[in-house]
Amino acid sequence: MPTLTAHPSTPLHGIVRVPGDKSISHRALMLGAVALGQTHVTGMLEGEDVLCTAAAMRAMGAKVERLADGEWNIHGLGVGGLLAPHEDLDMGNSGTAARLLMGLVAGHDFSATFVGDASLSSRPMKRVIDPLSQVGATFKAAEGGRLPLTLTGAKDPMPITYELPVASAQVKSAVLLAGLNAPGQTVVIEPKPTRDHSEKMLAHFGAHITVEELADGGRRITLKGRPELTGRDVIVPADISSAAFPLVAAAIVPGSDVTVTGVGLNPLRAGVIETLKDMGANIEVLNRRVEAGEDLGDVRMRASALKGCTVPASRAPAQIDEYPVLFVAAALAQGDTRFEGLEELRVKESDRLSVMADGLKACGVVVEQGEDWLLVHGLGGTEKRVPGGVMIASHLDHRIAMAFLVLGLVSERPIAVDDASPINTSFPGFQALMQGLGANLTEGE
Ligand code: S3P
Repeated sequence: MPTLTAHPSTPLHGIVRVPGDKSISHRALMLGAVALGQTHVTGMLEGEDVLCTAAAMRAMGAKVERLADGEWNIHGLGVGGLLAPHEDLDMGNSGTAARLLMGLVAGHDFSATFVGDASLSSRPMKRVIDPLSQVGATFKAAEGGRLPLTLTGAKDPMPITYELPVASAQVKSAVLLAGLNAPGQTVVIEPKPTRDHSEKMLAHFGAHITVEELADGGRRITLKGRPELTGRDVIVPADISSAAFPLVAAAIVPGSDVTVTGVGLNPLRAGVIETLKDMGANIEVLNRRVEAGEDLGDVRMRASALKGCTVPASRAPAQIDEYPVLFVAAALAQGDTRFEGLEELRVKESDRLSVMADGLKACGVVVEQGEDWLLVHGLGGTEKRVPGGVMIASHLDHRIAMAFLVLGLVSERPIAVDDASPINTSFPGFQALMQGLGANLTEGE
């Protein structure tokens, strides 16, 4: 369990690229495996979560090859062509891998057993078991609908119409992936729009998919079953969820100026930019462009006099993974920041609402938490530092580890994270990248 410690830092400077987008990388492997012909991916995230998906696609018969850094080829088997795996599918720490793959397997006439680490094995799977049962899959899950779980896919998958009870791109994607091998139309209705990488990539691979905006702000997504998917080139942008860490670090460490290049700015992912702007951050998006159907830009952050604000629940799906580091930004702001609509944070890699609230308190920040909200009393002003001097447990949660290491850069006494190894699930190279910008991170206590 490698401990990593963040110490008060001098200004951060530099232009960096963070690893590829996790959501898009998972989907490229999965769709590549059910497309005919070759899919060529550049910019692939080579974090542990995505490597679990790659191994699972291999175990189900796809040819998945790594050519060079971030450059991969997948030779797929066609829709409905996956093969029964001879081993358990180890999803590691990844909820996205587990839930999306359950969707894909639900449309195949074989059984697969999904296992994961202690964090993943405590996360709810009922949200995918329910709709995938309607498709015709059957499940034997651990108590409470959790992993380890054996799924037997449907012999004759049914196309379903499903209204999402939670704002979850993972559940939406699981239903759509199951619908690939069902005859007729699979429909997903989402009351609040969530990240649409699955929809975009399905269209890119040749599926017939339509997205209708509903009068109440929701969306209706319709997928025509049994399409012929064809292997494609996929260019993966840098992950905005990873970029958020060096960007917030630059905002709070006085004198900093950091640019992260080629960041994916899909509007359903870019809520963090809006929130940081609302907090008065000195943030700019440069070179806006569109590459392979996704919005991209270079994001520059200079040290900022942050101020408190209310962050509305409506923005939660567009920044769901960025809350831990946004709470850190709020801790250094002048005044109070109130975050609303946080119920989904309780079922991430850890209960991010409680783990962040407890950790911030231990570092000397005053916070109040409710069932689905957090109020952070900012320490801003001339003294802009937290007391620190604590060891934080990362709870097998990469974003908890990175958030507190960013906070440690503006602490009076160091902040250590007991186990920084989970960072490799989404942001391999985090330590070196941050050190390259000037962050004072050391191994051990
Ligand atoms: C993801 C969706 C989100 C997010 C996760 C990745 C995806 O989860 O937290 O890191 O790739 O679809 P939910 O859909 O459960 O909110």
